[in-house]
Amino acid sequence: MDLNELKNRARGEIEKIIDLKEADDFFKKYLGKSGEIAQVFDSLKDLAVEEKKAIGKEANMLKKEIKEFFNAKKDELKNTSKQIDLGQREEKIDITQPAKKMQRGHLHPLTLAMNEACCIFQTMGFEIAQGPELETEWYNFDALNVPKDHPARDMQDTFWLRQNELKVQSAKLKVGEGNYKSEKLLMRTQTSPVQIRYMESHQPPLRIIAPGRVFRNEATDAKHGAQFYQLEGLMVDKEVAACNFKAIIEDFLKRFFKTNIEMRLRPGFFPFTEPSFEIDVRKPDGNWMEIMGAGMVHPNVFKSAGLNISVKSGLGWQGFAFGVGIDRLAIVKYKITDIRLLYQNDLRFLNQF
Ligand code: DAH
Repeated sequence: MDLNELKNRARGEIEKIIDLKEADDFFKKYLGKSGEIAQVFDSLKDLAVEEKKAIGKEANMLKKEIKEFFNAKKDELKNTSKQIDLGQREEKIDITQPAKKMQRGHLHPLTLAMNEACCIFQTMGFEIAQGPELETEWYNFDALNVPKDHPARDMQDTFWLRQNELKVQSAKLKVGEGNYKSEKLLMRTQTSPVQIRYMESHQPPLRIIAPGRVFRNEATDAKHGAQFYQLEGLMVDKEVAACNFKAIIEDFLKRFFKTNIEMRLRPGFFPFTEPSFEIDVRKPDGNWMEIMGAGMVHPNVFKSAGLNISVKSGLGWQGFAFGVGIDRLAIVKYKITDIRLLYQNDLRFLNQF
């Protein structure tokens, strides 16, 4: 048995090995249970004792050497395969490729307009007040001095709740203590009822805005929706006049539209203000767009809220109120042609904001 030949053969083979599978085969062939080295040891049993000792020693050394070949090869293969791995990964990262655009959510144009409007009024010292969308007839109409036979209460304009009357106990309803009166429920048609709710629990001087959704039982068109958003405003103090209102609104509009937008006040009519105005802004196309109703708070409104406004008592409160259509503000600001686009949730539209 030529152990030298075996050693040279093993060395020649190990050098040619290029992957772990071949290395495994090599191990089986030379170092496995019935591999060539095992066969060498097997053949020793027929030899004389001296020879057995000598060849046995050589065979042990050979086994050790082949194991070393094998281990060295395996390490080498592991290292190169790591490098191959790395090489492939590096190739996958093409740093010149433009990054994938992340889909980020963003606010709806109505929310943007509402947030912006609230922020501007807050910097002027107005606090935010809120009221329910499901209102009583009292807060939405009676307390605001809207006559019983006013066409706005008509089935055409108001979403009434069917036979769903609320039992309320309220001093404002002029029912004695412990007595209840049934109240018809409706979806509020305006944010103005928040004026009453707020003044019931707060004494002037006060400055509030009330953002919210309102509902109208109307046919929709490019300028009207069955639901839309309003921002109510109310300022009550000792000497508040229409000129204060005009100055505040002018400043608000300039800051909201970020230009010197043209505005005009027209005489209007609302039961809860006297005198009343309507406010228009000039759109970039030159046409006027009505955005707001406003006026000086009617004494009956103060009375409904339980405020003493008699000058004799030294509490001669007066104030202005306004209700601005947020949808209208948004379509002018963002040059939207149709208010209905704001409610269709079409991503091709919304993605532009
Ligand atoms: N509530 C009115 C509407 O929805 C708008 C309005 C007008 C609000 C005059 C006011 C006001 O506070 O004083 O058409």
